[in-house]
Amino acid sequence: METQLSLEFLRVVEQAAIAAARTMGQGDRHKADDVAVEAMRQVMDSVSMDGTIVIGEGERDEAPMLFIGEKVGAARLGKDGNFPSVDIAVDPLEGTNLCATGAPNAIAVLAASEKGGLLHAPDLYMEKIIVGPTCKGAVDLDAPVIDNLRAIAKRLDRDVEDLVVIVLDRPRHEKLINDIREAGARIRLIGDGDLSAGISAAVVGTGVHAVMGTGGAPEGVLAAAALRCLNGQILARLVVSKPEHQERLSKMGIRDSKRIYDTEDLAPGKRIIFACTGVTEGNLLRGVRFFGEGIRTHSLIMTLEQHQVRFIDTVHLEKRPDVKVRFF
Ligand code: FBP
Repeated sequence: METQLSLEFLRVVEQAAIAAARTMGQGDRHKADDVAVEAMRQVMDSVSMDGTIVIGEGERDEAPMLFIGEKVGAARLGKDGNFPSVDIAVDPLEGTNLCATGAPNAIAVLAASEKGGLLHAPDLYMEKIIVGPTCKGAVDLDAPVIDNLRAIAKRLDRDVEDLVVIVLDRPRHEKLINDIREAGARIRLIGDGDLSAGISAAVVGTGVHAVMGTGGAPEGVLAAAALRCLNGQILARLVVSKPEHQERLSKMGIRDSKRIYDTEDLAPGKRIIFACTGVTEGNLLRGVRFFGEGIRTHSLIMTLEQHQVRFIDTVHLEKRPDVKVRFF
């Protein structure tokens, strides 16, 4: 099931990325997001599944497509077949501003699992710390920044000064940034995209050793799905700062608002599939390239149960079947 579905999900993220990439640099983040959502939604119904969106573009009233609870896939259309029930989390365009300005690391993302395999997280902020396989178990969300950095450095057999930590460039991170600087580690401040940063932290050779700070909770669940496949770790806690946040948590059945979630709490599924395609050029994935007669995309597809991590370079021979294909 996983192999077949993963290739079908590949088409879904590829088409979302291509649609978004056509708007790159036009300065319109909403348009970039809308076209990605539309493309993703359209391809989704061709996938052989009985899918339910559990993390998407928001509640039904605020999102016309890919809203939480929406049914997607071939089963919805009444097609014949024995379709697996699948929970789906999507971020059709992670980094809408990145795409709108042509900045690096915008990606189209989808994660899937058997029913109940992905936390139904509310669209709130989440404190996060993300590390790769070597540093799994070495960090603590409540520990001082310097202690976490020392622990990461020790596991990676290097000095704190040699580490690179990615942090979203936001005023709320002023203290965190000062603490990292005082500890002596290096920082890469990013405008957006802590999900793609989190995936990079779990891939050796990307030059990213950790991601720290507060970002979106949906991105946290998607990162957890990727980290399950890459054997990395995310520790996270929802930021509940207003009474209405508490109400939303209660509605979603989350009782302990101070709970620290580990990777398997956010993405407990046994059969997780994670798929993403680069929209703009990035650390881990190349962006979409249009070359007149065709399109080239670069994707990452991972399946937990089969222990497979595939980087897929697709040439879409859209306009002419006799187009010349370059090696790279
Ligand atoms: P969009 O894809 O919706 O533009 O979000 C990008 C992002 O930077 C995420 O990567 C991150 O988790 C979140 O927004 C941070 O939220 P905020 O911009 O409100 O600080």
